[in-house]
Amino acid sequence: MSAPASPRQKDVPRTMRELRESQLGRRSARPKPQENVLRQGLRLERIPDPSTVVLFGATGDLAHRKVFPALYQLWRTHLLPHEFVVVAIGRRPYDDETFRAEIRDSLGQYSRSLPLDEEAWASFSEHICYQRLDFADPGGFDSLSERLDALDGERGTRGNRLFYLATQPSQFAEIVAQLGRAGLDHERHDGGWRRVVIEKPFGHDLDSARRLNREVGKVFRESQVYRIDHYLGKETVRNLLVFRFGNGIFEPLWNRRYVDHVQITVAESIGIETRGAFYEETGASRDVLQNHLLQLVSLIAMEPPATFEADALRDEKVKVLRAIGTRRPDPATEVVRGQYGPGWVAATEVSGYRQEAGVDPGSETETFVAARLTIDDWRWSGVPFYIRTGKRLPKRATEIAIQFREVPHHLFRDEAVDPEPNLLAIHIQPDEGIMLRFGAKVPGLGMAIRPVTMDFTYGSAFSVDSPDAYETLILDALQGDASLFTRADEVEEAWSIIDPIVQAWAHEPGPPFPNYAAGTWGPVAADELLTREGRRWRRI
Ligand code: BG6
Repeated sequence: MSAPASPRQKDVPRTMRELRESQLGRRSARPKPQENVLRQGLRLERIPDPSTVVLFGATGDLAHRKVFPALYQLWRTHLLPHEFVVVAIGRRPYDDETFRAEIRDSLGQYSRSLPLDEEAWASFSEHICYQRLDFADPGGFDSLSERLDALDGERGTRGNRLFYLATQPSQFAEIVAQLGRAGLDHERHDGGWRRVVIEKPFGHDLDSARRLNREVGKVFRESQVYRIDHYLGKETVRNLLVFRFGNGIFEPLWNRRYVDHVQITVAESIGIETRGAFYEETGASRDVLQNHLLQLVSLIAMEPPATFEADALRDEKVKVLRAIGTRRPDPATEVVRGQYGPGWVAATEVSGYRQEAGVDPGSETETFVAARLTIDDWRWSGVPFYIRTGKRLPKRATEIAIQFREVPHHLFRDEAVDPEPNLLAIHIQPDEGIMLRFGAKVPGLGMAIRPVTMDFTYGSAFSVDSPDAYETLILDALQGDASLFTRADEVEEAWSIIDPIVQAWAHEPGPPFPNYAAGTWGPVAADELLTREGRRWRRI
């Protein structure tokens, strides 16, 4: 295979900084390959090294819906090097042409910029090739190794390889072992790096996560391992760090002295779609609570790291998980599970979970979970964190609400409306933005008070589209920035919070399922988690 013609001219901007500066009529020199230009303290702004992405599970749903659209978008916006190849690995009998045709169809459906840019697709498609491989066949991995070496020569990818595992989780350990056996993990003296990206779910419980970490650790060093939690790639989630640590006025209030409690909601209106078999094994606690929700808790509760280096950031997140682990939520009184029955969502009648395809008609799997967590450390002692997630709730909304304490002295107690305590609501999705609520005097002769809000919305403040989480994370992995990926100890700490909950459920009779109708905010017991403490869930 010979290198296809470059899609770029010499003077086309290739980094986000160059793009911005060229729009302003200025041009800067392209950053030198090893020069890490920090933007907002978080992202490395440079084109990744020449490299090959070896995508296992390339014929699967995740690859088609997320990974290829992200790669295409990065290519289209000139954020990938010209010396770049995707080797798509699958068991089905495609060749390069038939596989590319299928990816083109998927992009037509899942790309975030449609219609497709034909010129960009034409050049991108020449950088995709297909390799048929049975994961159990050592010979197949030897052939893969030879092909990758050959591609390095033809395409100038310099031995830099990102192995991306988007397969069934049960295949992760086998693939990693085969990569090790074939010597594909060995980094070269002359600079060829090797990294492995592992998709979620990472393990099914603490034991299996530990086992998988051990197996991965036999082949790759921890610094080569990138465990994905796509929530960490969301623009608004990354903005949490900027919001907290890039501003001076919030951090002094961010503690038990001023915060009454925190609520985090990850609500989905969709059901389980076509993933019945997967969901039966997983349930809401393993699917979202163990990862996305606990990641949001860590980012909200962590101490400021000394730097934004991957380990400094992750050390602080792990401390939060450990502090939760010192007084785990009591499954009987502080955790509520639910399962949706038939109902109405957005004016459409939908069936109950037990009627979904691939689901046991007597299933005890939870599609909703709410919990009251405490973080036993100096900053948060005594501040409850209420968290919840569920399928078939009234709407799709992910929100973090910081509820501040009431004023210490009610000067306006006798007025018609009591001032409500201040609230900061961070909207992760949709309608991304941040809202601060405070009391204001109603104009007029009296002293009536009404809550008003100050709103920041991404849509109106910035005129650019946010990248998809997968674009951000793939680019980070290619650039060797692991800060937004979960570390081995972090995954295990998160499982050690979830394990006792799911184990207790397995041994106790649960509430009668279904216990909430599709299109409602979950079981009544989830409301009681707050009402018994004189609080209530925010109406989102
Ligand atoms: C995935 C879960 O990790 O996250 C899904 O497996 C869930 O069940 C999805 O729907 C939610 O992600 P997002 O980005 O749509 O909020």
